[in-house]
Amino acid sequence: VTRRRLLGAAGAAGLLVGGGSGAAVAAAARTEPTALSSVGAGRIPFEGARQAGIVEPAQARAHLVAFDLAPAADRRAAAGLLRRWSDAAREMTGQGPGGQGRPTTPAAYDDQVADDAGPSSLTVTFGFGRSFFGRTGLTGRLPQALAPLPDFPADALDARRSDGDLWVQIGADDALVAFHALRVLQKAAQGTASVRWQMNGFNRTPGATERPMTVRNLMGQIDGTNNPKPTDADFDRKVFVPAGGGDSSPAWMADGSYAVVRRIRMLLDSWDHLSVARQEQVIGRRKSDGAPLSGGGATTPVNLAAITGDRSFAIAGDAHIRVAAAASNGGAAMLRRGFSYHDGIGTDGAPDAGLLFVAWQADPLRGFVPVQRKLDGSDGLSRFLRHEASGLFAVPGGAGPGEYVGQRLLE
Ligand code: HEM
Repeated sequence: VTRRRLLGAAGAAGLLVGGGSGAAVAAAARTEPTALSSVGAGRIPFEGARQAGIVEPAQARAHLVAFDLAPAADRRAAAGLLRRWSDAAREMTGQGPGGQGRPTTPAAYDDQVADDAGPSSLTVTFGFGRSFFGRTGLTGRLPQALAPLPDFPADALDARRSDGDLWVQIGADDALVAFHALRVLQKAAQGTASVRWQMNGFNRTPGATERPMTVRNLMGQIDGTNNPKPTDADFDRKVFVPAGGGDSSPAWMADGSYAVVRRIRMLLDSWDHLSVARQEQVIGRRKSDGAPLSGGGATTPVNLAAITGDRSFAIAGDAHIRVAAAASNGGAAMLRRGFSYHDGIGTDGAPDAGLLFVAWQADPLRGFVPVQRKLDGSDGLSRFLRHEASGLFAVPGGAGPGEYVGQRLLE
């Protein structure tokens, strides 16, 4: 009897479900439905003081999409849209009426694409672009923090894939669940708003590595190590607008955050020519495990003052983590929660791939803006990147039971 047939028999008898190669064999031989794996069962509540999709680990799939309001759509129409979108997100995350934790599709848009899937950690996050306020007669309520991002000299931005009246970030650990959410929201917008641009991103699938770890980006680096942590004493202050608003935010933005979205193409053909040692110097961390070149392991604090045997800095003067560090930028900090993208091979023959960079902060002028000003001129990594699209969005606090996102602005 071959090993395969033995395993097959054991799998069919239900002995091997859930472990290594046995699970694969069992799946092939399976005739009975099995329970949802942990991937499908993951549920992130839509309702809350803050919107979901900011502090949770980035999901395996993402759609970022910007909408522009139709010319005739006014503030009331926009409020109706946010109501429809919030109700749909509530249902698709299992918090709708009768959902009892199971996702349901809003009847008006039923396409059955996600019918047999669990919530799969779906999050739907809504934001307002600067142009939204002019279109809806709400310029009096425009946050100061939503001032246009400055022009960075190295930018190569495509205006058609930048900005937008409204922004939606969809994340899920299953591709069909994510696509379904995108379709439902697009259909719910019909007549009120149309898609201005849309981008698709991904990260590692949960369960693909033995231990959960910080994700790798498409340059192969472990990316996100030195992000602010929700357990840090100053995390909320850095990432969220305080109750009552802040210096640069009106009260309707309480518990909200500002998302800077950048499509950053990686010039992978040039990058791949560098030796691993050179690549590590460009970042300032080891590629294998993300440990800083100043010593220790991945979680050891970076020591920017560390000197090597030949009396040079262990972390080079133009290393990405030196130039981007809060210490080099007057304390400026943000929560980076991005997704990789790959849109096939570009007209130049190289992968059209990189990072859908999404950075969250309480005020972009104390987060992204000063850091990118610095990086744009003196980051060793910038020679291997091209910023191709950009947006800045005010993401208000979350919706409680019966509320919709943005209600405090729009009612
Ligand atoms: C750190 C990659 C763009 C801000 C890092 C690290 C990597 C990395 C590998 C080290 C691990 C970590 O702490 O996360 C990249 C890549 C980029 C990119 C591949 C573009 C495709 C940016 C941009 C900004 C930024 C546009 C902000 C304007 C930071 C910050 C850190 C960091 C603040 C932490 C620095 C510290 O240790 O204090 N990045 N990055 N990065 N990056 Fe980037």
